Amino acid sequence: MDSFAQSVYRTESVAEVIALYDEHCTTYEKRICEEGKFKGPFTLVEAVTKEVPECRRKEVRVLDVAAGTGMVGEALAQKGFTNLDALEPSKGMLEYLRSKNIYTNTFHEYVGQDHTNVPQGCYDLVFVVGGMGYNHIPFTGVLEFVRFAKPGGLIMICMRHDEEDYMSNLKKYMNSLEEQQLWKKEFSTPIKDYLIGTDGILFVYQVL
Ligand SMILES: C[S@@+](CC[C@H](N)C(=O)[O-])C[C@H]1O[C@@H](n2cnc3c(N)ncnc32)[C@H](O)[C@@H]1O
Repeated sequence: MDSFAQSVYRTESVAEVIALYDEHCTTYEKRICEEGKFKGPFTLVEAVTKEVPECRRKEVRVLDVAAGTGMVGEALAQKGFTNLDALEPSKGMLEYLRSKNIYTNTFHEYVGQDHTNVPQGCYDLVFVVGGMGYNHIPFTGVLEFVRFAKPGGLIMICMRHDEEDYMSNLKKYMNSLEEQQLWKKEFSTPIKDYLIGTDGILFVYQVL
């Protein structure tokens, strides 16, 4: 049988991918972590805890984009973060996430649509793990992350690095946002064996 990650990779539309997440919401964590050995959540939590000292973790307002079942939020809550919101378009994943009672506000929506209920300009940290890529968040969605964050806020993007066209367009778009002085790059770091033998990358930007 395919791993869950391989099934996701083979989907051909956003609707198909969301239906897959809906269907597998209760087994996602076991399948993606055990079969896929997904390093995304671990990498993100390590980066966030390095950036935010313990004394600030109760005050920083955090938005988890494409939050899935809330695995990352759960790990951050264990590290002392208490002000977490989540955005997730799959109803199944969102219901699973809500049952954990970690997030204050949850938004049932996609990044990349015209309208959003997410408050603008008020997050200290906006992050996404595994939500960027084909049939997921369009590369232009990073502009929405900039709008969600407050000036000085951080944006962290943790993703696979093997989708060549997508990555090339994303990097050009990120550079164009930097030229427009909307954000500045802090650093990026490669992630070896991010997901089933695929390498990944973590991008960290600061909103200006
Ligand atoms: C690989 S899962 C990652 C979930 C979670 N962040 C984690 O680390 O376990 C990708 C998530 O992206 C969400 N997603 C797909 N397209 C999206 C979009 N356009 N906007 C927001 N989320 C999207 C899916 O519903 C799914 O929950």
